[in-house]
Amino acid sequence: MVTVRHAPASAGEVRRRLGADLADAGLPASVVGDATLIVSELVGNSVRYARPLAGGVLEVTWSVRPDCVLLTVSDGGGPSVPRRHAAGPEDIRGRGLAIVAALARDWGVRTHPNGSGPVSTVWVELPV
Ligand SMILES: Nc1ncnc2c1ncn2[C@@H]1O[C@H](COP(=O)(O)OP(=O)(O)O)[C@@H](O)[C@H]1O
Ligand SMILES: [Mg+2]
Repeated sequence: MVTVRHAPASAGEVRRRLGADLADAGLPASVVGDATLIVSELVGNSVRYARPLAGGVLEVTWSVRPDCVLLTVSDGGGPSVPRRHAAGPEDIRGRGLAIVAALARDWGVRTHPNGSGPVSTVWVELPV
């Protein structure tokens, strides 16, 4: 698990760490590229739309399974919920989760309290 600040610069930090780890694990470059794209989008959304977890942080996990990579990004929830929008051709926003959904085998949101408040986790299964 990687704990990062609830700040825009964290998207790049997580992208680099995830990319290095998945490349070390021997995954194809296309999977590494898709995974790092997804994680930067999810961290960006958590920074923009959600509160941090206690301590002003976000938590990111990944695990390499035989047939997929499971990615999770947890934040403290917010006024909205992560939901794919139907972006039109002219829309400059509302594409991130549509891209995630297109790349993922499955994805979803899980909310669950921990000791210090609400936790909202977006999980994504990326096929390998
Ligand atoms: N971590 C999150 N917490 C709360 N709401 C979220 C989160 N991620 C996404 N959302 C909601 O889902 C919508 C769609 O996200 P996305 O497809 O990434 O589009 P965009 O980031 O361009 O608005 C956001 O506009 C926001 O309302
Ligand atoms: Mg987004």
